[in-house]
Amino acid sequence: MEQFEAYLLENLPSAASFHPYYEVALRQMLVGGGKRFRPALLLGVVRAYNPLLLNSAYGVALAIELLHTYSLIHDDLPAMDNADLRRGIPTLHKTYDEVSAILVGDALNTYAFEVLSNVPLSATTVVKLVRELSSNGGLNGMVLGQAIDCHFENTPLTLEQIKVLHLHKTGKLIAASLKMGAIIVGRDDIAPMLYEFGLDLGLLFQIQDDILDVTHDPIRAGKTTQNDQAKNSFVTLLGLEKSREEANVLASKLTHQMERFEDHLRNELSPTLIHYINRHKENTQ
Ligand code: IPE
Ligand code: IPE
Ligand code: MG
Ligand code: MG
Ligand code: MG
Repeated sequence: MEQFEAYLLENLPSAASFHPYYEVALRQMLVGGGKRFRPALLLGVVRAYNPLLLNSAYGVALAIELLHTYSLIHDDLPAMDNADLRRGIPTLHKTYDEVSAILVGDALNTYAFEVLSNVPLSATTVVKLVRELSSNGGLNGMVLGQAIDCHFENTPLTLEQIKVLHLHKTGKLIAASLKMGAIIVGRDDIAPMLYEFGLDLGLLFQIQDDILDVTHDPIRAGKTTQNDQAKNSFVTLLGLEKSREEANVLASKLTHQMERFEDHLRNELSPTLIHYINRHKENTQ
């Protein structure tokens, strides 16, 4: 992942102009940190099946991270979750203004596809990757999840509906990260299996995120917490203990599925997966 970080720093969005802070605002949340979970998943699949393609895959991993970062910047806006802290630093609308946060989000969203259009892979592969990133990150993916999340604040949903919400706002982009890794290495045959696995992984990731909203302080989480009271989170619906039980059930299911992965895939992905699948058990992020 150090190589990915170096690639990210070399390919930060550039937009020199006489605007006093547009360019620095574009870069702030990208260099601010973040777990790089989605890039790690994609690059793990590529390393497992064709490490020679890793250099070509960094741009694809960056595209996913750019789209994800845009989603966080907009998620924090006053109209959405109204959060002051993200990745250990003040949110963009706090540092600058709402207009800048909206526009930086817009720019990172489209820059993701510019980066993707330039990766040194075949045109056929690039079109498949564009399809996955846009469909899972866009209107019937993350954005639909965010729409449901915000529309139903203070209106309780059922457990099934919250799962739909979480699968869209978080699950689909995580599932796409694994699937896009399979597409890069030409293993379209395992893409559906990885996508299904990724949906469960994403659901678990969001349940854990709901748990840490109540268990972590902002310093530890690096972002505003205690912020989900009006939300349809697992914790607001089920309480902390039952949410942990749900997370445990999913964690066991994913651990068993991972044991059936082909050896190369399991070897490459298991350090990342074991850490994240169990993160609600340890008292760490
Ligand atoms: C936060 O995502 C939003 C959710 C989908 C839960 P991450 O927890 O991956 O945030 P970063 O990228 O590490 O900042
Ligand atoms: C947001 O979920 C998921 C996104 C698509 C950005 P949350 O609102 O729970 O994410 P955090 O807790 O602010 O990171
Ligand atoms: Mg939100
Ligand atoms: Mg939020
Ligand atoms: Mg959250």
